[in-house]
Amino acid sequence: MYIVTAAALPLLALETAASQPHYTIYKPTAKQAASPHVITTNTVNLERQLIKNSRTSFLSAFRKRQEVKGTSGTANLIAVENSQEFLVAVEFGKQTFKAILDTGSSDSWLAEKGFQCTDLDTGFVTSESTCMFGPLYSKSATFNQIPDLNFNISCGDGEAVAGIVGYEQVTLAGINVINQEIGVVDTAAWAGDETASGLIGLGFPSLTSAFKGTNPAADSPDTQVEYNPLFTNMITEGKVTPVFSLAISRGANGGTLAIGGVPNITHSPNFATSPFQILQVQPVGASPETQTQLSFYSITIQGFQIAGDYFGQPVGNPSANPSAMPDELVREQVIVDSGTTLLYLADSISGVANELFDPPAFYDFEQGAYVVDCQATPPSLGVDIDGQILFINPQDLIVDSSESYCISGIVDAGQGPGILGDVFLKNVLAVFDLGASEMRFAAREDY
Ligand SMILES: *[C@@H]1O[C@H](CO)[C@@H](O)[C@H](O)[C@H]1NC(C)=O
Ligand SMILES: *[C@@H]1O[C@H](CO)[C@@H](O)[C@H](O)[C@H]1NC(C)=O
Repeated sequence: MYIVTAAALPLLALETAASQPHYTIYKPTAKQAASPHVITTNTVNLERQLIKNSRTSFLSAFRKRQEVKGTSGTANLIAVENSQEFLVAVEFGKQTFKAILDTGSSDSWLAEKGFQCTDLDTGFVTSESTCMFGPLYSKSATFNQIPDLNFNISCGDGEAVAGIVGYEQVTLAGINVINQEIGVVDTAAWAGDETASGLIGLGFPSLTSAFKGTNPAADSPDTQVEYNPLFTNMITEGKVTPVFSLAISRGANGGTLAIGGVPNITHSPNFATSPFQILQVQPVGASPETQTQLSFYSITIQGFQIAGDYFGQPVGNPSANPSAMPDELVREQVIVDSGTTLLYLADSISGVANELFDPPAFYDFEQGAYVVDCQATPPSLGVDIDGQILFINPQDLIVDSSESYCISGIVDAGQGPGILGDVFLKNVLAVFDLGASEMRFAAREDY
């Protein structure tokens, strides 16, 4: 078992800011040395899929919940936030499906033939096609239901899936797990893309969604029955070293997920390393018992270099920093998430960077984002991880909103944690090392 669950983690720091929600930061201890960056053929293409609607993601649901009480004036999730996702091919039994890849959740699930679709707008049961899943799953000869468990994911925005739990053979990137716990969804309120049949979550076991009993209405964090997600089983069965990596690309080919190593792409030989911090969030209004419910791939960054000025605390030289801002204004804890498009930075940093676009980007309350001239020149922007500044290609800092204007790639995190979304990830090879409990990033510019 390489993955440390919440109960086993030493509490490092407890931040109890006056404003909710609260963050509890745990640092899991490394179980082994860093896995080498072996080039692997256990890869799968990431297919970039544009979507009209929101999707079920703990992270986006969390952001939505939080923005209800936000103080920074952020409105609804901006349109561009939900405009894309990455799909991977995955086999369940002998059937191949496309599923959403999500590092911010942990279940592997598919919608089943004959499932009941609830209309997100009216709340009434409607035709299957309204939920817009891809081809539906039928229980195969290799599926075995686990009695007295139910599967249940519900998000703040109304999207929800529920069903049964069972074991199935699952194959991803050429790696097979014979007895993988999966969710088979028989009721859904969902706005799909007509291609994805479900989702593959690469997150920690604490985010799994199986519950005691057969009545989803009775589920609560107390009745959660945590299980090993797909990647955890690949590790515990000795099929792979405990790393996966993401090389997210610009353009139609969304990039590559590699399991047990790195894809064969050109990247800098220098990796910037940052230990995982499992960030646990107490949703607004929730009682302390639910505090351990959410956790994401979260790391610490040192600061930012914006148009040549440094903001933050450079490694080994904390005082030589003329542009330093107080820690809380830089907000160094960030979540790495491929399911998020933009770069969510502390409001002060986001403000500085957006003002330095030429012409400047302006905060638009209706969009909850900075609107910018599509022809503007972005400032040079680099993220300092472990003393290495990883620059973002200017072309990634202006996001086409498919309206008559563009959106800046940088947005205020408000009360939320920072997020290194695709705007950042397109510029690096990102290695998730669950054995060493750290992330490593190498610059990748020549593509
Ligand atoms: C499970 O689903 C029900 C609706 O059937 C919902 O009210 C409840 O909040 C869900 N529980 C969890 C833990 O997601
Ligand atoms: C990586 O790709 C290059 C160029 O296509 C090829 O020459 C090399 O053999 C590949 N390496 C591995 C380990 O597959």
